[in-house]
Amino acid sequence: MKTVFSGIRPTGNMHLGNYLGALKNYLILQNQAEHKCIYCVADVHALTTMQDPASLHKNSLNLVKDWLAAGLDPQKSILFIQSQVPQVMELYTYFSMSTPLSWLLRVPTFKEKVKANPENANFGLVGYPILQTADVALYKTDIVPVGEDQLPHLELAREIVRRFNQSYGEVFPEPQAKLTQVPLVIGLDGKAKMSKSLDNHVEISLSEADTRQRVLTAVTDTLRIKKSDPGHPDLCNVFSWHKFFNERNLTQISFDCQNAAMGCVSCKQILAEAINDELRPYRQRRAELSDDLVIKVIKEGACQASELAKQTIREVKQAMGLV
Ligand code: TRP
Ligand code: SF4
Repeated sequence: MKTVFSGIRPTGNMHLGNYLGALKNYLILQNQAEHKCIYCVADVHALTTMQDPASLHKNSLNLVKDWLAAGLDPQKSILFIQSQVPQVMELYTYFSMSTPLSWLLRVPTFKEKVKANPENANFGLVGYPILQTADVALYKTDIVPVGEDQLPHLELAREIVRRFNQSYGEVFPEPQAKLTQVPLVIGLDGKAKMSKSLDNHVEISLSEADTRQRVLTAVTDTLRIKKSDPGHPDLCNVFSWHKFFNERNLTQISFDCQNAAMGCVSCKQILAEAINDELRPYRQRRAELSDDLVIKVIKEGACQASELAKQTIREVKQAMGLV
């Protein structure tokens, strides 16, 4: 059985981009018998940028609620919150002793973040990939499902683990990145990848009415000025979203758009209905989940994760000659 581990920073509510990417994939992996899946709310990682404490707390619990509503099952997978298993910080410290600073300084995500916010180049940001390595190594992870942006972190994780094993003996398997076929979901602006920070996202826990309202703000084919102009589905992001949520009506929509038989407002209304249809069961389950249940699930998850973590730390300390 292979161990699968992945993490998400709780910096906001799930949106359609996370849903189509990470979450659907987590479910597939969970339901394959050859995998033991461990999913982590990476709240310590979130702290590399300043978080409002109350929001961080709420976002972490909400994320677990999203997972449960989507079908992640605590009987099958370990669902836990990073900070509740503090051994990860211990392993982070040990790994930091053998990781050359030059490896960290050349990580693309680090360079981008420093460029964007030089005043926020804190120590934790440089160490971010070591903490991520500690995440996966603590559970002796074999497979890490991630998006393309995380590949440099995974490459570094492999180097850190390899170096540890060479120095102290084979304690860890080398984690393999598993590139998830994440469709590139462009946001409401029709330009950039959907993200909360750009405010071009649609949160999956919105009400049906709010979803409709939000979808209606989407930018469409910019060459189509009047309703009587024929549209270009291939140039229109709304059409890409129809591909995700309304596949069976694609031909008709494409035809009506190109023949100016349908206006963009109607097209977006149809899309909003399709999104609402897809998310309805999820939203119903989510509404029925109590906060108490979430607390119970993460407590149980932390217990299970701690057992594994303690065992690894014991082996690590022994290998390193720590008393
Ligand atoms: N760095 C990841 C991201 O921003 C989140 C993360 C934290 C993670 N720990 C992890 C991903 C361990 C995979 C494995 O998306
Ligand atoms: Fe895009 Fe639909 Fe408008 Fe065509 S009708 S341009 S697919 S929003």
